[in-house]
Amino acid sequence: MEEVAAMVRKYVFGNPIDTESVVKEFPVEKGNVPYFEVAINEKTMKLSMAANDKVYGLGETVRGINKRGFRYTSNCVDDHVHTEDKSSLYAAQNFFVYWGSDKRFGMFVDTPGKVSFDIGDREINTFEIDLEDFDANIYVIDGDSIMDIVRRFRGIIGKSYIPPKWAFGFGQSRWGYMNEQDVRDVVDNYDKQDMPLEAVYLDIDYMENYKDFTVNKERFPAFKEFVEEMKGRGIHLIPIIDAGVKIEDGYDVYEEGVREGYFVKKENGENLVAAVWPGKVHFPDFLNEKARNWFGNKYKFLLDQGIDGFWNDMNEPAIFYTEDHLKEVFEEIKVLEGQNLDVLSFFKFQGLVEGLSNNAEDYKRFYHDYKGQKIRHDKVHNIYGYNMTRAAGEAFERLCPDKKILMFSRASYIGMHRYGGVWTGDNQTWWSHLLLNIQQMPGLNMCGFLYCGADTGGFWGDTTEDLLMRWTQFSIFTPLFRNHSLKDTRNQEYYRFTNKKDFRNLLRLRYALIPYLYDQFTKAAVEDDMLFKPLCFEYPEDEMAYEVEDQLFVGDSIMVAPVYRQNSVGRYVYLPETMKMVRFRSPEDYDEEVLGKGNHYIKAAINELLVFVREGKKLPLAGPANRTGDINEKDMIYITGPHCC
Ligand code: GLC
Repeated sequence: MEEVAAMVRKYVFGNPIDTESVVKEFPVEKGNVPYFEVAINEKTMKLSMAANDKVYGLGETVRGINKRGFRYTSNCVDDHVHTEDKSSLYAAQNFFVYWGSDKRFGMFVDTPGKVSFDIGDREINTFEIDLEDFDANIYVIDGDSIMDIVRRFRGIIGKSYIPPKWAFGFGQSRWGYMNEQDVRDVVDNYDKQDMPLEAVYLDIDYMENYKDFTVNKERFPAFKEFVEEMKGRGIHLIPIIDAGVKIEDGYDVYEEGVREGYFVKKENGENLVAAVWPGKVHFPDFLNEKARNWFGNKYKFLLDQGIDGFWNDMNEPAIFYTEDHLKEVFEEIKVLEGQNLDVLSFFKFQGLVEGLSNNAEDYKRFYHDYKGQKIRHDKVHNIYGYNMTRAAGEAFERLCPDKKILMFSRASYIGMHRYGGVWTGDNQTWWSHLLLNIQQMPGLNMCGFLYCGADTGGFWGDTTEDLLMRWTQFSIFTPLFRNHSLKDTRNQEYYRFTNKKDFRNLLRLRYALIPYLYDQFTKAAVEDDMLFKPLCFEYPEDEMAYEVEDQLFVGDSIMVAPVYRQNSVGRYVYLPETMKMVRFRSPEDYDEEVLGKGNHYIKAAINELLVFVREGKKLPLAGPANRTGDINEKDMIYITGPHCC
């Protein structure tokens, strides 16, 4: 215990708001935070970086695995254009490992407000952390290796969420399945093609006018029976839950929330009126324990109908507009009406409407009741989505303690990893987003988020068969494996494409891998380890390993090297040790070859994917199945790595 205390040191700036991310108590250190120069008046911490120092972590962000060379701002935001100039995405995960020639440590900047990590962006050799408010708990973690530091950090934030095993099955999703027949058609088509499927996701159209905890009776006239019917076919239905609660007389969730004072309030005490899918909504105050319990209990409505998985969305929270801001904008537009709009006034006019959504000023218009204190939203913005998922996770422990429920969220903060996983939000049908998906996994794992994955094939835009094929070749290794897309884009269910056999084989390979993946996943959760590791985390002495940002170890036995370039039929792969290359076409059809340490160009046709079995290790493969419950774990075959058994 004493040793641990010395390896993790806690420093306190100002008067921090407790995020409940860290589950252990630490004495507060006197003196300065090590490694950084702290300027309280400038609200910054600065560190000077040597040329080859590296920085890993920060969870779900843009760009590569080594975060150096850009600035990242933790500020959960609903932005679907994840281009490399974006500083903020849906998540706020403020843990990183600094791995330099003379400075090696981990740091968790625990503050629920906005914080920026400029890692050589404005000044190439300066790492500057800017805190909007200078109130934070700072944890400095020492260790002999990157993995040592990561494990020690994970040891202080509590164990990662473990989903039920069926949640490793494949899930088909699309914003656009309108009724039970649409869902039935999807399942029928998968079955007809003999393609594995475990779940179908219900997006917002299953609800009655986008009201949480309701089911549209015209579209799903006998929901409970339908859930039962699907369950009989081995299919789980996974409904979406949104953060905003529709304002509508007679709607129980709205009326109870108003009566009990469970919604976030403006300065004058009135409930904030914002708008999302249903038009005007109130936002539950997930930071208020009573409101959290109340909202959590609402999941019972769906649990009682046989539902055992959910995805929590729009919980940054995303805001189309607030009633107050909309009014201001209409007034300003009225002034402009009839004028000759010139360069300045036209752009002002355009900006007025565009600036309505997710407006930074709107996040200052409302307050939470957090641990008995009235706190303005922007000060605690990054823990809002976390607490929505916590509401659900805590409720599941109360309502069905003996059952594992699938839960994942769009917005997140460290601490939420105890209650659910994440998906990486609205990506695009871009090859660069396949690479981004690969590169986001280690950062997420470092921060405790093990159950994660991206919208396979891309959410926005029309996917192409080859992109979907290559993406699936990576997604079959991610714990959350879901194909999801936007309304009115090209339908991307696997049975719609030309090379159905290749997709079927990939899905079957996923199911053959599930015993290995679930075993490695639970081991990582129990041992505070990572499922996806960059090469350098295992080979710190190997300079080449630091260069490789498109290959990952997945669990103890294998390394994957996905093809993520359009029209590529092979790729360079770096082997940090002698490994057995397995070129899979299906669980039964693959080539094997032992390759030595070093660089290799390896062919991989569009229907082939590359897995490398490590020295002394083996990869178990189960017999193919179309549902996780049918996986035969008795007759496993083992592909052995060099010098194994
Ligand atoms: C958000 C989600 C997306 C979902 C859509 C409609 O954009 O990120 O996954 O399909 O809302 O609910």
